[in-house]
Amino acid sequence: MTTNTIRPIIDPSRPKVYIETYGCQMNVNDSEVILSILQDAGYALTENIEEASVILANTCSIRDNAEQRIWGRIDQFKIQKKKRENVIIGIVGCMAERLKDKLLEAVDLVAGPDSYRNLPELLKAITPESPQINVLLSHEETYADIAPVRLDKNGVSAFISIMRGCNNVCSYCVVPYTRGAERSRDPYTIVKEAQTLFDNGYKEVTLLGQNVDSYLWKGDKEADRVVNFAQLLEMVAKISPELRVRFSTSHPKDISDEVIYTMAMYENICKHIHLPVQSGSSIMLEKMRRKYNREWYLERVAKIRSVIPDCGITTDVIAGFSGETEQDHKDTLTLMEKVVFDSAFMFAYSERPGTLASRKYPDDIPYSLKTERLNEIIALQGRMSLKSNEKEIGKTLKVLVEGPSKKNPDELCGRASSNKMCVFPSRGEKAGDYCTVKVVSVTSATLICTRVE
Ligand code: 5AD
Ligand code: SF4
Repeated sequence: MTTNTIRPIIDPSRPKVYIETYGCQMNVNDSEVILSILQDAGYALTENIEEASVILANTCSIRDNAEQRIWGRIDQFKIQKKKRENVIIGIVGCMAERLKDKLLEAVDLVAGPDSYRNLPELLKAITPESPQINVLLSHEETYADIAPVRLDKNGVSAFISIMRGCNNVCSYCVVPYTRGAERSRDPYTIVKEAQTLFDNGYKEVTLLGQNVDSYLWKGDKEADRVVNFAQLLEMVAKISPELRVRFSTSHPKDISDEVIYTMAMYENICKHIHLPVQSGSSIMLEKMRRKYNREWYLERVAKIRSVIPDCGITTDVIAGFSGETEQDHKDTLTLMEKVVFDSAFMFAYSERPGTLASRKYPDDIPYSLKTERLNEIIALQGRMSLKSNEKEIGKTLKVLVEGPSKKNPDELCGRASSNKMCVFPSRGEKAGDYCTVKVVSVTSATLICTRVE
């Protein structure tokens, strides 16, 4: 393990690094790995860009608008460079991997998701004449031995990456190209990291992977035990009943009964599954190469609910994929009505260069129609979220306090096991405490609760 403390080092004498993070939770955790590596190399974090010697953006390529935002930020970073010539501007993460040399024309450093170990050497080698790039993808790198420096604000909840990369080739998705092949991390290092977090007061860990259900550790030696995702979940859950365990993301084709039963067995494994459906149309799902159809998805939801009746289920939906007909769109709406997701991330399809879809299928749904369908999906989900929350009225829930509620400092907020956000009157508890509450009324986003003795 690296020698860093769990929190950022404060040392005015060190050169400063400023990091902005975009995209998914995996990127949030990668920024923590990056900071760990840079702290070991003598840097310290700053939240003030004006005093940074190194400015990094950890970037996302998932949709075109994510990338456009970064180009805008690069222009702003350059203002810093005008003020202080020696400032290094670096782009790391998925966009670095995807755009490589094109980015190198604009910045001093380009480093992909598998090259963070080399950041100190790359930074050293930079001169005005020689910007540095490393975008080689690895089949082994999991950063298992790097202790991430935690960047969360409240010291309650942390991310642990259990695997990297992705072996599914969903036709619309850029991730396999930016993060490379799937590899699972040594489970014993995962348990150790979770234990360290718990020892430092953390009460919740979220195990991260592009497709956690395909987690599989075969070990280095023949004698090593094979560990699958359900077993890993159990290993982490056993650390303490006081440590909540969450995970993301599950793939509908891979989520196993064993995982569902393991969730049911441990109170501290949170009853929430993020299960991206993408579309309710089997025709679209086939074209998206999701390897399941509408019926399979509905069966998995039914299985989850038969074993864990109160399980929160959330999803991702894409509107306007190639060739999507009015009927395909309706299939998405009816699936959403059937399942009644607790919440959803909803997107208009954005063609990504290099993906299978960009080569094989035209991006032929006009922007206005994509937006219209997306708006219909968003409006429906609003009604479904309300409906799903209304079912919680009268229930008693155990909530992990995150801190004061944003709207009213006399109230606290925190999440129930299902991941639903609750607000309730404070009795002086602090972030990281557990409270028992009763739901009295709801909005589409929040459960409003009273206290239970
Ligand atoms: N266009 C729109 N949405 C996408 N997603 C992934 N690729 C694309 C794309 N090309 C969405 C999927 C995925 C989530 C992380 O982002 O819904 O689950
Ligand atoms: Fe995360 Fe995907 Fe964006 Fe990469 S492209 S940062 S994996 S969401």
